[in-house]
Amino acid sequence: MATVLILYHSRSGNTEEMAKAVEEGVKSSGLKAIRKKVTRATPKELLSVEGIIIGSPTYYGTMAADMKALLDRSVQYHGKLEGKVGAAFASGGVLGGGVETTVLDMTKALLIHGMIVQGDPWGSHYGTVSVGKPSPSAKRECKKLGERVARLIKRLGPTF
Ligand SMILES: Cc1cc2nc3c(=O)[nH]c(=O)nc-3n(C[C@H](O)[C@H](O)[C@H](O)COP(=O)(O)O)c2cc1C
Repeated sequence: MATVLILYHSRSGNTEEMAKAVEEGVKSSGLKAIRKKVTRATPKELLSVEGIIIGSPTYYGTMAADMKALLDRSVQYHGKLEGKVGAAFASGGVLGGGVETTVLDMTKALLIHGMIVQGDPWGSHYGTVSVGKPSPSAKRECKKLGERVARLIKRLGPTF
């Protein structure tokens, strides 16, 4: 069964709530989901999954240092993640506080790895964002993100 790894950083629980909703979306689509804090993950774990979804709070307009550290360490597998499906989500403290730039910064790293990132023409276009404690609608968006990644993996088929 195809597997999606959901890695996130969270200090006060907002991003973690989002990660749980993303996990729900992956699982309800029939794929296996592994959700863990980024500090408990190793870059090697990125190799054995079909999808990678990363989430972070916004810290000074970008991702948390722990997420950046994992991405920087993933350079040892540069080229080996090509063709995997990816997505990003982020939490912020205020509207306009950089939550979208955080998602885009994480998305850039996925694209540099050669991964496939699908946009959303209806909801959060770049990846799911939320401000403060995620609202029911933000959680629905997170669930949809997990479903979208799962759907794309199924469409691509067992290519890895
Ligand atoms: C060091 C630090 C920097 C932050 N910088 C920003 C920021 O630039 N923009 C913003 O909107 N929120 C900022 N915040 C607020 C967090 O992004 C926000 O509270 C988020 O929901 C926390 O996620 P968590 O509950 O998963 O830890 C910052 C918080 C901390 C601790």
